[in-house]
Formats: sequence, structure tokens, C-alpha cells
Amino acid sequence: MNQIVEKLGRSGIGEMSRYAAGVGGDLIRLEVGDIDLPPPQVIREALTEAYEEGYTHYPPFGGYPDLIEAIREKLSRENNLDVNPENICVAAGGTVVLFAVFHSLVNPGDEIISVEPNWSHIALMIPLTHGVMKTVRLRADWGFKLDVEELKDKITARTRILLINTPNNPSGAILDKETALEIARLADKHGILVVSDEEYEKYVYDGNQHLSIASVCENAAIMQSFSKSFAMSGFRVGYLVAPKAVVEQAIKVISYAGGYASSISQRCALKALQKASDFPSRTAKEFERRMHLLADGLDQIPGIRCPRPQGSIYVWPDISQLSRDSVEFARFLVRKAGVVTVGGRAFGESGEGFLRISLGSPLTDLKRALERIQEAVHLSE
Ligand SMILES: Cc1ncc(COP(=O)(O)O)c(C=O)c1O
Repeated sequence: MNQIVEKLGRSGIGEMSRYAAGVGGDLIRLEVGDIDLPPPQVIREALTEAYEEGYTHYPPFGGYPDLIEAIREKLSRENNLDVNPENICVAAGGTVVLFAVFHSLVNPGDEIISVEPNWSHIALMIPLTHGVMKTVRLRADWGFKLDVEELKDKITARTRILLINTPNNPSGAILDKETALEIARLADKHGILVVSDEEYEKYVYDGNQHLSIASVCENAAIMQSFSKSFAMSGFRVGYLVAPKAVVEQAIKVISYAGGYASSISQRCALKALQKASDFPSRTAKEFERRMHLLADGLDQIPGIRCPRPQGSIYVWPDISQLSRDSVEFARFLVRKAGVVTVGGRAFGESGEGFLRISLGSPLTDLKRALERIQEAVHLSE
């Protein structure tokens, strides 16, 4: 067996799903980050159209030119980014994009600094690309803002990539312009590529704005995806926007690992951009409602504090007054409330004391989950 693969564990999210399956019963599943709504209606027509138009063969390496053009226009319109087609390539979801960029830049032993807390797949993915993961904290006492001084201390001669994630999964914090400019200066000084995971760019709340670091930093690559923006996680389409030299390498990794998006999915993604550009903001409004309902309800529970996240599709309450062990607290909620969440430690040590609860379920389920959590906490007092 390959030693790196053999040593890889399950993600903290996967562990919770497994634990919940073992407990069984009437569970409300709020551990997985997915959009419960169907994709835009036009996607249904796009599926048949793609079939009838003969998009049933291998797609071109890097993606269909008309999809790349539509992405280019989207980036200019929505992200203040003017790029050329050579700066974009398409893959089977954001996960593949990140994997390809890491693989393209890292030689064995090179370092990737990732923000922490971060999506739990990252810590599993980096070793597979032969990289060494280091972390820089998003500080809870600063509303999960990046500590630039700590970042400076973490940079070494072997640092190749700084991975940021905005809006952040799990905390919901978004990158502010001042921090983005400081990161850009550091990236330039040390020749580091900033990789920005923008999976949740469309999910921003209460008037907050998403800022793509590539609009202020030359040495940046960004990943965006149709999974959350258009509720198309099963279609598997994401894309990379990066300097041409990075895109050229990433296309090789994507292609030779078979990580390209299917031709039919790419045609649907094109249709989403052309005909359903209002879908993401409508969906985000629904998620904003859910977020407020859940955060307001959690705040009423003695011992829980739930600051409103700026973005993402999660709430991230502070449960440190109720438990010293967030993973154990999440298990307690499965057993006593029948509600599945994820203990914050699954997203890195600095997530300890928090709980991640997904907003990807209807309001009625979220209300039921709140009542059950309230009751379980009350009975345990
Ligand atoms: C922060 C973050 N990045 C990337 C992804 C990858 O998603 P996909 O491969 O569906 O684009 C996820 C999925 O949940 C995520 O939470």
C-alpha cells in the first residue's frame, strides 16, 4: 500500500455521519454542507438539450471554450476580475481544482500554509500532493480574522502556497480588504501563490460583500464552483482562475487524473451562467433567513453564544461554556437530541469550543432541531 494513503483517516464530517448511522433513529442531519434546494429550472432543459446536441463525448482538456468565455464574463461582472481565457480551466468540482493546484506547485516536503479552522478535506488532501501542511489561525477573539503577524512567522523558504477560504467554512468569516492587501504584499515578497477557496462566494449575509483576493493580488489563484452557487453539487463542475503558467500545469493534473467535468455537466453550467444568474442571490436570501432563525434560537440557549456569520452555509456557535470537547458535545446531541452536527475540532484545533451546523435543510427541520437541542441542553443541566 502507499503509506500516505494508508495513513489517511476519515474527515471529521465523515466520522460524525458514521457515528450518527451507528446511533440511528429519527435524526435531523445537519452535518453535511450541501444545498437542499433543486438547481435552477433551466438546468432540466439544458440536460436534454446537451444530450440532443450530441454532448456525450469527451470534453476538451481545460473545458469548453464557450463555458470559459461565460466564466470570464462572470468574473468581470461579479468579481471585478479581468482575465484571459488562458487564465481559466474547468474541472470536476472545486475539490479537484484545489488538488490540481497543490499538485502543480508542490515538490515533496514543500509547505502549504492553510488558514485554520478550514474545511476538513484540506488536511487530508495536502499529504496526497506530497505537501506539508502548516496552519495560520483565524482568531476567534477577532471574529475569525487572519492573524497576519502569525502568518509572517509561519512563512519559510519552503512555503509555496497560502490557502485561504472566504467565506470561511466553518466560521463564515469573510476576508476584509486590509488583510487581503497585507497578504498580497507578503505573497509578492516571498514568491508565494495565494490560493483562495471561494466555494461560498455567493453566500454572504447582512450586507457583507465577498472580496476575491485576485482583484488585489497578482500572485493569486482562485477556485469557484457551481456546487453551492447553483445547487449543482452532483453535477461536479468547478473552475480555476490563475496565472497562465499555473493553469497549464493544473490542466495536466486534471486531465491525466481524469478529473475533468463531464461534457453534459459543463453544458448545464454554461446554461446556469447564461440563464439563471439571479439564482445564487435568491438562494442566499433563503439561507440568510435560515441563518437568522438558527442563530437567534441558539443564542437563547443558556451556555451557547452564536455570533451571526458573515457568510457560508453554516452557523458556528460557541459552545465552550457547555463542553470542553466539541466532538463529544456533537455526539451528545446525536444521542440526546437526534440532531447531527460537527464538533469544531474537526476543522482544526482552533475550532475547539465551537459547533458547525449546516443551513442546508428546510426551515421546518431547522426549527425542530433547535427545539430538540434546547431540550437536550436543558435536561443535561
Ligand atoms: C470550503 C470548501 N471548499 C471546497 C469544497 C468542494 O466542493 P466541490 O468540489 O463540490 O466544489 C467544499 C465542499 O463542501 C467546501 O466546503
